[in-house]
Amino acid sequence: MKIGILGAGFIGSTLAQKLAETGHQVKVANSRGPGTIDAVVLATGATAVEASDVVRDVEVLITSIPLSGMPGIRPLIDGLPAGAVVVDTSNYYPLRDGHVKALDDGRVESLWVSEQIGRPVVKAWNAILSGTLEAKGSAAGQAGRLAIPVAGDEAAKRIAMSLVEDTGFDAVDAGTLADSWRQQPGAPTYCTELTRNEVPAALARAEKDLLPGRRDQVMATIGEKFGSLTTDDIAALNRAAYA
Ligand SMILES: NC(=O)c1ccc[n+]([C@@H]2O[C@H](COP(=O)([O-])OP(=O)(O)OC[C@H]3O[C@@H](n4cnc5c(N)ncnc54)[C@H](OP(=O)(O)O)[C@@H]3O)[C@@H](O)[C@H]2O)c1
Repeated sequence: MKIGILGAGFIGSTLAQKLAETGHQVKVANSRGPGTIDAVVLATGATAVEASDVVRDVEVLITSIPLSGMPGIRPLIDGLPAGAVVVDTSNYYPLRDGHVKALDDGRVESLWVSEQIGRPVVKAWNAILSGTLEAKGSAAGQAGRLAIPVAGDEAAKRIAMSLVEDTGFDAVDAGTLADSWRQQPGAPTYCTELTRNEVPAALARAEKDLLPGRRDQVMATIGEKFGSLTTDDIAALNRAAYA
């Protein structure tokens, strides 16, 4: 597929490498220009472009920027082909993004994102740590393959789920975008490295009111131990706090 990726940070750069490696035609942009995108990101065939070009002539746009940047990219999204699917990886962290009243009041994060950019989105790759995404993918059918929840409208979700599989993870249908709070930070399926068999029960036992407190508690712990935690440490911390 022809895929644009907006954001070349931890998640966007890994997606660019993996999706280009599996034969997709990938272009990737950040906010500072193509010359600032690391050569490693392009090593498997992705092309670095200006942000204004990343939306042109693509079938899928993956947005992988901080949630606080979403209102500002609406002019870009207006240039996206009408039929293109938008897949969003973002999460709300007030510590990083500043407080957004609607989200603090419980608006589902991806519904808010969709309102900001003026297009429906599919929520995918938001509930996997960048270290897990980079290092723990495996072939379809392999025992213990990790899974990623994907939520959104039916047709667009099928496309996103197929791309998730291409990045080395089982894609689990997590319902509509309105249901997607079940995979937000603080939820049992959020960055806890579960398998396809484990994700549905984890989605089902999420309790919306508990998520923000649990999210902030884990962020405080990560902040205290700044820089000393591995991906495995953070996944274990999440499992203990979000179960
Ligand atoms: N890190 C994780 O483990 C993880 C896991 C799951 C989901 N997420 C979510 O996925 C999103 C991306 O996370 P990340 O860790 O990859 O972030 P990151 O490393 O901070 O990278 C963010 C990227 O977005 C680009 N960007 C920001 N504003 C932009 C704009 N207006 N136009 C174009 N590019 C823009 C930045 O470009 P410049 O550097 O040029 O500004 C940078 O390449 C976040 O919402 C995060 O919550 C992260």
